[in-house]
Amino acid sequence: MRQADIRKQWEGAAPGWAKWETTVASWIEPATTAMLAMANIVPGNRVLDLASGAGSQTLSAARKVGAQGHVVANDISETMLQHVRESARTAGLNNVSTLASAAEDLDVDSGSFDAAICRLGLMLFAEPANALAAVRRAVKPGGKVAVVVFTTPVTNAFMANPMQILLRYAGKAPPSPGQPGIFSLGAPGVIERLFTDCGYVGVEQRTLALRLRMPSAAQALELMREAFGAYRAVVSDATEPVRVAAWAEVAKMLETFETATGFEAPAEVLVAAATNPA
Ligand SMILES: C[S@@+](CC[C@H](N)C(=O)[O-])C[C@H]1O[C@@H](n2cnc3c(N)ncnc32)[C@H](O)[C@@H]1O
Repeated sequence: MRQADIRKQWEGAAPGWAKWETTVASWIEPATTAMLAMANIVPGNRVLDLASGAGSQTLSAARKVGAQGHVVANDISETMLQHVRESARTAGLNNVSTLASAAEDLDVDSGSFDAAICRLGLMLFAEPANALAAVRRAVKPGGKVAVVVFTTPVTNAFMANPMQILLRYAGKAPPSPGQPGIFSLGAPGVIERLFTDCGYVGVEQRTLALRLRMPSAAQALELMREAFGAYRAVVSDATEPVRVAAWAEVAKMLETFETATGFEAPAEVLVAAATNPA
């Protein structure tokens, strides 16, 4: 997919992503904590947050680096970055700035960051290797880059099955290996190879089990329809009746995760970090 299409896809999803920011943030919280720890972020650091979205992890990093530190939130969508600026202002954080660009085209001074993070973004980039190469130039030698990606369809049925349904209705094939996609970097060995091919060393990995808990499957459907840019994009060029039928089948599928107390779906992510060698 071309960068212009990816930008359009996420500009469309940005209001939804901001609306559901708190739900997503609490769902991913254990991975966010691990990512910040594995990036070795300490007070006073300058941190680059790639594909920041509406910025909940940007704000966590900003609190960690403190007033003497700084976090630059980068995203391909300017609307996402508006949310980051608003949230930082509301939280009283003066150590956050934003940079609108594709991560692959980062234009920052060499060695100007102590660390970089990227939560649930890298697997969706058109050229993740180009992004990691650009980040390697941006991060000081010895600095860490830590990312969170989804693992595999089998361990993320709540994410994988709806995607399959939407693809079937749209008459589209799933992304072939090497193409951007929600599970493109989650299979064993893939992220390690990507980091190593981009010249990083000392790859560390942690697999974390998460649970998305929401009041109902209907709300989970709303989250997916409004915020998940990659899902919205699959049926964006389908006719209205096809779109309606596709989302109706997704709704039924999500109901299978309903329990006596609400919607509860297991998920699994990989947190991976690597060092820019000296
Ligand atoms: C699934 S959201 C994750 C947002 C945020 N990191 C979070 O965890 O809440 C993916 C984000 O990646 C951004 N994105 C997609 N491709 C990008 C690229 N090539 N460069 C920078 N950002 C990109 C989208 O605009 C979107 O905000």
